[in-house]
Amino acid sequence: MTSCPLSRLFFCGSLLVALVGSTPVSPSWHLKRDPPLAARDDPLGGIAALPPDSISQPGMLSSNLTVISDAIASHQAGRPEVVSAYKSIFEAVKPASTPTTIQDILAIMEDEYTGSTSSLIDSAASLYLHGLDPGNVKVSLAKRGGIDIDSTDNSNPEPPTTIYPQSSSADPSYSILEKALRSAIYIPSAFEFGRGSKQTVILVPGTAVPGGTTYKGNFAKLLSSTTWADPLWLNIPGFSLGDIQANAEYVAYAIHYISAITGGRNVSVITWSQGSLDTQWGLKYWPSTRGLVSDHIAVSGDYHGTKLAYTLCPGFPLNMLLGCTPSILQQTYDSNLIRKLRSSGGDSAYIPTTTIYSGTDEIVQPQSGSGASSFLNDARTVGVSNNQVQVVCGPGSLAGGFYGHAGVLIHPLAWELTVDALQHPGPGQVSRLNVPNVCRTPAANGLTAGDVLLTEAMTVTGALNALAYSPRVDSEPAFKPYVT
Ligand SMILES: *[C@@H]1O[C@H](CO)[C@@H](O)[C@H](O)[C@H]1NC(C)=O
Ligand SMILES: *[C@@H]1O[C@H](CO)[C@@H](O)[C@H](O)[C@H]1NC(C)=O
Repeated sequence: MTSCPLSRLFFCGSLLVALVGSTPVSPSWHLKRDPPLAARDDPLGGIAALPPDSISQPGMLSSNLTVISDAIASHQAGRPEVVSAYKSIFEAVKPASTPTTIQDILAIMEDEYTGSTSSLIDSAASLYLHGLDPGNVKVSLAKRGGIDIDSTDNSNPEPPTTIYPQSSSADPSYSILEKALRSAIYIPSAFEFGRGSKQTVILVPGTAVPGGTTYKGNFAKLLSSTTWADPLWLNIPGFSLGDIQANAEYVAYAIHYISAITGGRNVSVITWSQGSLDTQWGLKYWPSTRGLVSDHIAVSGDYHGTKLAYTLCPGFPLNMLLGCTPSILQQTYDSNLIRKLRSSGGDSAYIPTTTIYSGTDEIVQPQSGSGASSFLNDARTVGVSNNQVQVVCGPGSLAGGFYGHAGVLIHPLAWELTVDALQHPGPGQVSRLNVPNVCRTPAANGLTAGDVLLTEAMTVTGALNALAYSPRVDSEPAFKPYVT
């Protein structure tokens, strides 16, 4: 099993060099100051002034992107220049018309990532050029976000019981104000607050995209259309690009809060990407949450971090001065945070857990075999099922081919295993499914090409959010006092 796909060797290679050659990372935040440009011509000057809609050919896009990567590699551009050059490129790109079938969208993803060594932002520009338009690309980087379903400022009722600063003396006190923790929970108007018989499902986002946008074209839509599930979601401030320990507080609080406002019932949690880490961290260090969660379904999770983490921070660590974001550094393979999480049984589930992931994930690798980053052990025998979509579906089936990091959200097996998990005790089991039937369609039944586009175009939104995130850091945040 290769842990680093050939297509990404450049980035894995630079990561390995960085890991081998590095001294232990000091547990402090280093705020990045933007380095002054030397007294010379700005090598990105031309790119900062591209006319709008002037790039409609892949060749022209890639030669412009090469100018940026060359300037980064030769340390000739600082962060402000790099950010404005990328922004200028997105403004100059004239996207092709939107693909209209699910298979066309999946084919664009596969073409982009097969054999690619690009950073995520370069791939995002290319996907955008090919018509994967999330709709708000031309909005100024500083003003992005702000749509209702992605709000971090929701007004939710007081809980009927005291859950702050802690629900149990076994838990640490939250370090984040209760108002912020509660306002990050988005409760749709259809939510029944435990009055009916529906199961409550909390949807937790991953790195760089809020919960509303993440789940609109997949689990939020599919769950709302059932008679038995009642979904809501979290919009973690800073698009989950800040400290994972803080992001985990949002999850731990939401579990208690939602249980409290639904009459003390259990919840289930569906997570994408980093959401799996936030949730596992919350379950580990806030033990009182464990008795309240019936099921955890982890889609494209990265319990081991990823060898491709740096593709989300263009130029880093080749040029350390460009900095990265806290949660991306915490998701490098075997980071300090990952090693801490996995220690003392944290690499095993605390509650019944169903993991679903793709071997062709362009962001999280490795993602196959028992070394898959999504793979969770079961030392406490609470029930775990680990499911790689290509292994379950098989190479001959429509759903057994290329699926990227976001693509697993629309995968038919992800949905059918979720239904199975939520409707049975313990995790979802492939043995209860009609696998050939499930794997016969490229996306879950009930999803349209528009839903798939919305989901896959998150790559573009996420890359732009990660690019804009500030303040940049060059090492992981310190551990909180409760972490032992
Ligand atoms: C960058 O794109 C512009 C179109 O805006 C094009 O005129 C120019 O030749 C491109 N530059 C490079 C280096 O390809
Ligand atoms: C709530 O979840 C816990 C942990 O998964 C489980 O042990 C318990 O049986 C669940 N309770 C109900 C009523 O489903």
